[in-house]
Amino acid sequence: MIALPSPAVSVLAALDLSRVYPSGEGTVTALAPFTHAFPPGLTAVVGPSGSGKSTLLGLLAGFDTPTTGRVIVDGTDLHALSEAARADFRLANYGFVFQNHNLVTILTALENVEFPLALAGVPPRERRERARALLGEVGLGSRAGHLPSQLSGGEAQRVAVARALARDPRVILADEPTGNLDSRTGERVLDLLLASARAGRTVVLITHDRDVAALADHTLRVRDGVVTPQG
Ligand SMILES: Nc1ncnc2c1ncn2[C@@H]1O[C@H](COP(=O)(O)OP(=O)(O)O)[C@@H](O)[C@H]1O
Ligand SMILES: [Mg+2]
Repeated sequence: MIALPSPAVSVLAALDLSRVYPSGEGTVTALAPFTHAFPPGLTAVVGPSGSGKSTLLGLLAGFDTPTTGRVIVDGTDLHALSEAARADFRLANYGFVFQNHNLVTILTALENVEFPLALAGVPPRERRERARALLGEVGLGSRAGHLPSQLSGGEAQRVAVARALARDPRVILADEPTGNLDSRTGERVLDLLLASARAGRTVVLITHDRDVAALADHTLRVRDGVVTPQG
């Protein structure tokens, strides 16, 4: 069955999306052709290590180029954009949370959250206010002046979530964001992503954790590059 995207409800869609990598003499199909409209809410992507989950996310983000197919984000063909236009488009429409927080080490927590807003040309006072509010929302109002090295792993990851949400993106992509955290801290990070999903964002979350997957509105199972919607 082909799940045709319904533009009315779906902001993110994959059409016949695939990725084949060269491997030694041959090739490896990291993602077999996949068509899916991602509904708003939380979609969990589960599957064994090496099954193609990160490949899928990299394509949805436009970090990687598909072998076949397209990624449509709110009517825009992501890979048809020039690299520069795609970078701008990504900044305006996506938030990312990775396993490692990827914060800028020389910037404070507040400055890290401000960073995407600065790139968007938001005036200093306004972006500072928004960044402060976001840090408050993730429970880190008192850590605004700390550098990433002065934060715990969980705190840094919550800053990363605040940064991802700074421009109120339609699409949030997270690759095992709780993988390096203890379960309590992981829960807090997850709650933030869930809240975004409940607010109507399209959140795609790669996770190994069954409890996390159980909270999702939708689940995609990946096995040997083949993606199958569950339920
Ligand atoms: N850049 C790459 N070049 C070659 N092979 C790759 C590359 N990225 C991923 N692969 C291969 O594609 C398959 C899927 O990898 P990946 O998407 O990272 O899996 P997962 O995130 O589920 O662990 C694996 O066989 C991996 O070795
Ligand atoms: Mg991976």
